[in-house]
Amino acid sequence: MVHQLEIGVAWPQNVVLGLTSRCNFSCVTCNPHRHDEVGQLAVRDSYTDMPEAVFLKLEDLFRHAKTVSMGGVGEPTISHNFIERIQWIRSLNPNIQITIFTNGTTLSSTHAVEKLARAIDYLHVSVGGLASYEEIMIGGSLEQTLGNLEALRKVRRRTGRPQRVELGVVLMRSNVDDLVGLTKLACEMEFDRIAFKDLWVFDEKLKAESLRHDPELAGQIRRHLVKARDVGIPIRCEPWPELSTRIVRPGHFIKCSFGALRSGHLWPTHSTFAYWLRIMQGKLDKRRRSSRWWGNSPLLKMSPVCHSPWEMAQVTETGNVLLCCEGMTELGNIREKSFWEVWTNGTASSYRTGMLNGVYYGACVSCKYVSSESKSFVRKSG
Ligand SMILES: C[S@@+](CC[C@H](N)C(=O)[O-])C[C@H]1O[C@@H](n2cnc3c(N)ncnc32)[C@H](O)[C@@H]1O
Ligand code: SF4
Repeated sequence: MVHQLEIGVAWPQNVVLGLTSRCNFSCVTCNPHRHDEVGQLAVRDSYTDMPEAVFLKLEDLFRHAKTVSMGGVGEPTISHNFIERIQWIRSLNPNIQITIFTNGTTLSSTHAVEKLARAIDYLHVSVGGLASYEEIMIGGSLEQTLGNLEALRKVRRRTGRPQRVELGVVLMRSNVDDLVGLTKLACEMEFDRIAFKDLWVFDEKLKAESLRHDPELAGQIRRHLVKARDVGIPIRCEPWPELSTRIVRPGHFIKCSFGALRSGHLWPTHSTFAYWLRIMQGKLDKRRRSSRWWGNSPLLKMSPVCHSPWEMAQVTETGNVLLCCEGMTELGNIREKSFWEVWTNGTASSYRTGMLNGVYYGACVSCKYVSSESKSFVRKSG
């Protein structure tokens, strides 16, 4: 139990902010909002918005952060003083990059879209399916969502904002037949990218929807995704990163423009220089870790498996601070203390020193980002 080494702690660059736990939908995928067999909410805690006193305590954090992303466990766009709060964050830090995850319901008029679009930089709209939309996103209407996406498209054409928009789809049995259609929709509505995400499984019902638990379903989804690549819009594919693609315009090998400017070729992501650089870094890391001499060297200790404990903070609507967005690394609450006090407290320090010394604490022990490769040479504790 010796953990002396801890590199300097600065303000986190990336903030995941939960403005509310309330939502106007109860999607079947969503742990806090889905209903059980008798139609009751699966989790019956009282859902709330972040109180003003908690929000204001984040002033210094917003001044120092590079990005803030709002999604959390509810629908941010229905939270208390939503636009005013975003505008306040921007006034504190004009260069901060603001991302919103939304189910798209409040994009219901050109005026509403424009107000939101001007306040943020990136927008991620979650869509459950096409034919399957209303079975998955309970409380939503496909017709209404399509109208809202059209309003977003028009505003974006006119104003160029938000800078980037992404359509997000959680892959599951119920929407497998909609995957190509959803990709075409993203293309028609001039999204920059479609993101296919892996389903987190919370119960037996969701397990039956999960491609991770069914090789036949995985094969079926994969085939649909291969077809989706032909639609010609960039794809981010979480379960199979090798299926990810991006648009590359001649002369823009790494940085490129998407959306209405789309005119280049579609390339698999792994053809980019950045991809190969990451692969090479991974190989070097592996060699360094597996070598006996390097395995015990201070160099290993200065290269943690995960950087989140230094770079990312999640703040929930109740004021809880967590070290990353995985939802389990709780450090404390800012109702009684300042953010900085919580961010630098003993719990945070033990996560960081553990990470540097190859001994993991608390939630990091079972985190998916601590890969099996790393687990073979690190020790765990607590
Ligand atoms: C919980 S929602 C909150 C923001 C907003 N209400 C929305 O739907 O985008 C954040 C993201 O989690 C995704 N999500 C919900 N349930 C999921 C599950 N079981 N597995 C993976 N992602 C899920 C949603 O698709 C959404 O993109
Ligand atoms: S819209 Fe988002 S927060 Fe609301 S139930 Fe669906 S996934 Fe959950």
